[in-house]
Amino acid sequence: MTAANPVTTAREDGILVARIANPPVNALSAAVRAGLLAAAREAAADASVKALVLAAEGRTFIAGADITEFGKPPVPPSLPEVIDALEALDKPVVAAINGAALGGGLEVALGCHARIAAPGAKLGLPEVKLGILPGAGGTQRLPRLIGAAAAARLASEGEPVDAAKAAQLGIVDAVAEGDLLAAAKAKALALVGTAPRRASALTDKLTPATREEFEQAAAAIAKKAGDNPSVAAILDCVRLTFDTPFAQGMAAEREAFKRLVADDRSKAMRHLFFAERESSRIPGQPKGTTARPVAKAAVIGAGTMGGGIAMCFANAGIPVTVIETSEEGLQRGLERVGQTYDISVKRGSLKPEERERRMGRITGKVGLEAAADADIVIEAAFEEMGVKKDIFGTLDRVAKPGAVLATNTSYLNVDEIAAATSRPGDVLGMHFFSPANVMKLLEVVRAEKTSPDALATAVEIGRKLAKVPVTVGVCFGFVGNRMLSKRTAEVERLLLEGASPSDIDAALAAFGFRMGACAMGDLAGLDIGWRIRKATGKKAPVADALCEAGRLGQKTGAGYYRYEKGDRTPHPDPAVTAIIEKLAAERGITRRAIPQQELIERLVFPMINEGARILEEGVAYRPGDIDVIWLYGYNWPAQNGGPMFYAGLAGLPHIVERLDRFAEQTGDESLRPAALLRRLAAEGRSFADLKESDVAALSAGAAPAKAPAAGA
Ligand code: CAA
Repeated sequence: MTAANPVTTAREDGILVARIANPPVNALSAAVRAGLLAAAREAAADASVKALVLAAEGRTFIAGADITEFGKPPVPPSLPEVIDALEALDKPVVAAINGAALGGGLEVALGCHARIAAPGAKLGLPEVKLGILPGAGGTQRLPRLIGAAAAARLASEGEPVDAAKAAQLGIVDAVAEGDLLAAAKAKALALVGTAPRRASALTDKLTPATREEFEQAAAAIAKKAGDNPSVAAILDCVRLTFDTPFAQGMAAEREAFKRLVADDRSKAMRHLFFAERESSRIPGQPKGTTARPVAKAAVIGAGTMGGGIAMCFANAGIPVTVIETSEEGLQRGLERVGQTYDISVKRGSLKPEERERRMGRITGKVGLEAAADADIVIEAAFEEMGVKKDIFGTLDRVAKPGAVLATNTSYLNVDEIAAATSRPGDVLGMHFFSPANVMKLLEVVRAEKTSPDALATAVEIGRKLAKVPVTVGVCFGFVGNRMLSKRTAEVERLLLEGASPSDIDAALAAFGFRMGACAMGDLAGLDIGWRIRKATGKKAPVADALCEAGRLGQKTGAGYYRYEKGDRTPHPDPAVTAIIEKLAAERGITRRAIPQQELIERLVFPMINEGARILEEGVAYRPGDIDVIWLYGYNWPAQNGGPMFYAGLAGLPHIVERLDRFAEQTGDESLRPAALLRRLAAEGRSFADLKESDVAALSAGAAPAKAPAAGA
C-alpha cells in the first residue's frame, strides 16, 4: 500500500468495501480524503454495488484529521465535503469501527448510515484537547443522533467512550460479537432498500425537553471549563442544532474551527501532543535495544511516595513488595494505601472487588532481603546520600542479577548512588511526582553508566504504569525541580520586595496555573524544602521563618496562608505579613506594590532561562521534553504549551531584555540570560526551532552532558 493510494476498494458479496491503510493510525491525510471520496463515487456509479462498507487496516479505524496538516494551506477535498458525499449516497453506507474512531474519524463514521464497532473500539471527539472543536460536522451530526446534552458532554470533555458505552449512547448501532467486517456487511445488506438514516436529517432528538436538558448540561460544562474558548464554541455550535438548518450549523462550525486552529492556544496544545510522543524516544539507544521483562517489583519505603509508587504497580497488575525498616512503619504505610483506595471506592471510581485485587498485589515486608525476587526495585527512602548509598550497597548484594535498581531521589546525584554498587549499568533514577499514583510525569534519570536496556526497561515500565516517561540527565534537581527552584527563589524575593502570597498565587492563576506557588507549598508541606535547604546549606528567609514559627503548611493549619480546621481554603494571614515585613525591614528593603505582569515575568522568565541552560548542558534532549515535564509534573497550563514553547510566544528578545533588567534590579547575576537564549533571540529564532541534533551539538562540549549525540 503506498501513501499515495491509502484507500483501496474491492467488491465483496455485492458490497463495495473501502479499506483505509494509512499507518500508523489512519489519519485523514489529503490522500485518504481523496480515496474516500473516490470510493463514494465508485459506489454511486456502479449499479451492481448494493452498499458501501468503510473498514480500516491496522490497529485503528481513523485517529482523526492529520494534525500535521493544520496551519498549512488546505488541500481539497475537504473533510466535510467527503463526509457529505458519503452521507448523500442512496445506498447504505456502514462503518466497521476497529480501534479508535476519534475526531474526524468519528465524524466520518457519523456520515455513514450505520456504525458497527468491535468490542475494543474507542470513540470520541478529542479536539478540545488540541484547542479546537470537531470541524467536520461533529457538533451538528452527533447531537441529532444521540441528543445535544450527551453530544456536548462528549465533545467538551474530549474523553473517548468504549464500544459498549457508544452503543448505549446510540453512537453505534451494534457491537460486533464476532468478525467485525462480516457484521458490518450483514448490516449493510439488511439496510438495502430502506431509506438511508442520515444523521444530518434526524430531528427526533431536538425537542423542547431535550433543549432544556441541554441547557442545564451546558451551564454545568461552561462553569467547569472557565474561559476555555473551545468549549464555548462547542456549546454554541451544538445549541444551533435546535433552531438552525444543518448547512448553517456546518458553516458556523467551520468558522469556529478556522478561528480556533489559527490561535496560539491551539498551536501550543498541538505542540504538546507531538512533544509528548517525541519525548518517549530516547536518543543514543543502540538499535535492537529491548526492555528487560518485569514480572515483579519492589518499592523501598512505605512513606507517601513509596506507597503511591506501589499503588501504580498494583493498578497496572504487577505484584509489588513494599519494604520498610520496621513493622510499624510498614503497617502505617499500607494503611495509608488502603485509605487512598477507600476514597476512590467511596467516590465510585473504583469497585470494591477491584480495590481488593489491587491491595492483594501489594505485600509488605521488613528488610531489604525481600527485594531478592524483584525484577525492578524502586528506592523511595529518605533524601540523604548516606541512606541511599547504604541501601544500594545492600541491594547490590541481595537483588537478583539483571534487576533494574532505581532511585526516586528528587535531586541527589544518581552517578554517586550507582557507584555504591558493583553494577552501575543497572542503576538509574525514576523520579515520580507527588501524589505518585496521580501525577503522570516520570523523569527517568539516565546516569553516566546506565545500560541501554535498563533505561529501556524504566521507560517501558513507566508507560505500563500509565505515566509519561521523559528521559533526562543527571544534575541537581534534574529538569523539573531544577527549574522550579528558580521560581521558588523568585517567590522569596518578591515576597520581600512587596508581594503577598495571594498576589503571587493570583499572578500564577492569571497565567493559567490551577494552583499558585504558595498554596502548592502549603499543600506539599513547607518542611520538605526546609529539610533540603538544611542539608545543602541553602537559605530561604521567608520559608525558613515560616517553618521556624511552626507553619509547615496545611498539615499544621498554617503556612503561607491560614487554614480553618478540616478546610483546605487558604486565607491570607496578617501574621505572615508581619513576618515578611520584619524580614524586609531587617534587610533594608522598601516594599512596593508589584504589578501582576511583572510578577508573572519574574516568576516565569528565570525558569525559561534555566531551561535554556539545561539544554546547553544536554540534561534534556529537546525543548519539547521540558514542556512535557512541566505539563505533567507541575500542571503547567497546556494552552501556552510549556515553558520553552511559551518563550516563543512571549518573544525571546523581550525575555532577554527583562532578564538583564532583573539581574540589575536584584544584583543576582545568575538571572542574566543564558548564552543559548541570547543567541536564539539575536537570530530571531525560538526554542521550537531547535532540533534534537542541535541540542546534542550544543551539549557536546559542555561539562555535565549526559546525552550522547543523537544516533550515537
Ligand atoms: N494526525 C497526525 N499524526 C497522528 C495523529 C493525527 N491525528 N494521531 C496520531 N498520530 C501519530 C503520532 O504523532 C505518532 O507518530 P510518531 O510515531 O511519529 O510519534 C503515531 O501517530 C502513533 O501515535 P501514538 O503514539 O499516539 O499511538 P497510540 O497507539 O498510543 O495512540 C491514538 C493512538 C489513540 C489514535 C492517539 O494517537 C491519538 O489520540 N491521536 C490523536 C487523536 C485526535 O486528537 N484526533 C483528533 C484530530 S483533530 C480532528 O479530527 C479535527 C476534525 O474534526 C476534522
